[in-house]
Amino acid sequence: MPLDIVIGTQWGDEGKGRVVDLFAENSHLVARYNGGDNAGHTVTVADKIYKLHVIPTGVIHPQTFCVLGNGMVINPGTVIEEMDMLRSTGVEINPARLMISDAAQLITPGHRLLDRAQDAALGKNQIGTTGRGIGPAYVDKAARSGLRVGEILDRHSFPDRLRAHFTDINKRLSALYSQPEIDVEKYTAEYLEKAESLRPYIKRIGPEIQTALKMGKTVLAEGAQGSLLDLEQGTYPFVTSSCTTAAGVFSGLGIGIQPVRKVVGVAKAFQTRVGSGPFPTEQAGEIASFLRGSGSKPWDEFGTTTGRPRRVGWLDLVLLRYTQEINGLTELFLTKLDILSGLEQIQVCVAYEREGRKIDMLDFSCDAKSLAQCVPVYESLPGWKEDLSLCRRWQDLPVNARAYIEAIEEKTGIPITTISVGSERTATIYRD
Ligand code: IMP
Repeated sequence: MPLDIVIGTQWGDEGKGRVVDLFAENSHLVARYNGGDNAGHTVTVADKIYKLHVIPTGVIHPQTFCVLGNGMVINPGTVIEEMDMLRSTGVEINPARLMISDAAQLITPGHRLLDRAQDAALGKNQIGTTGRGIGPAYVDKAARSGLRVGEILDRHSFPDRLRAHFTDINKRLSALYSQPEIDVEKYTAEYLEKAESLRPYIKRIGPEIQTALKMGKTVLAEGAQGSLLDLEQGTYPFVTSSCTTAAGVFSGLGIGIQPVRKVVGVAKAFQTRVGSGPFPTEQAGEIASFLRGSGSKPWDEFGTTTGRPRRVGWLDLVLLRYTQEINGLTELFLTKLDILSGLEQIQVCVAYEREGRKIDMLDFSCDAKSLAQCVPVYESLPGWKEDLSLCRRWQDLPVNARAYIEAIEEKTGIPITTISVGSERTATIYRD
């Protein structure tokens, strides 16, 4: 009963979409367990580019059964848009292959308004959220006042629950942020219409996943965001509001830990971040422009969800070792190695210093204040000029590219089993 977990090891945008797409080929069930439409997972298949925010990327493979787990926050409008987009490209979407947990929380337009008002009110301390209402929806969940997906099924009480919710949003918008109130009846009517379309997809998901595992079928858990955005272990408070690490899989899907076969960490060959928060290896100027790209190519470093230019920097092995510890990674999938082609020298951060002294890992803390005081210690590795996009075997890679990969393995102790050198499915190197 194998459970495979795919986790982002950085601040999100590591390329988890393309990794899940590869693993999904041999999976029966693919499940998202955290977050909502703040995620942006991209998969390129021949000339088609799929950008998904809520529905698991595994849906593109016709044999998979896909689940939106109870740990998620669901915006019905985004789910419907995604269903329509997928259908228009020939992907079959029906309740026989897509299920939404009745225990997941709902995101409403009220949550989105609150999210934006709240972040704007922070002024220079803004988190830089995606504005998708993620934080406020999880706040309502923790306050035990949130709306659960399963409530949609109760035609009798759901409209009143929505009215009460929007009325409460109005109180918060006006009292806390001096924002104009919304029209409760209009918002309720519009939301009801959208939510109604989800009705056939709403189920209890725990038994479904448990049965698949008992039958020996492969279940793939698709992580969203990255480990450094984890609410507990990330660069708090500059984090998202869900559990993005492997730990979130079990509560976010309602299963035990026994079936885990592997925990695959996805790491980009360099570091990126969207939104505020510490970033010890961040670069500006020429190196930043080189790593980010101009925005003319789909894989350039601009947000899939918000279009914001991503902050970029050198690979940080201190943080990679940390995310290995908190997730129990069994292997690494290294993405976007091709982007580094053309650099004379490549820096990797191998340690941190504070006030001129090396930081012992026992003293290391990932919270924003501590991390902001860390000064990276770099090792410089020789770059390579060759275009890697057509490399398909380990031995096709230039010597210096192989040395870069081996240096990461040596300094983190995690085997790099797979490397991607382009956005297409086939641009992948498997190491035996
Ligand atoms: P929120 O999840 O919208 O509340 O945003 C909180 C922080 O997480 C912000 O810095 C966002 O930019 C970041 N974030 C949320 N989702 C993603 C993602 O999928 N990729 C990268 N960053 C993300």
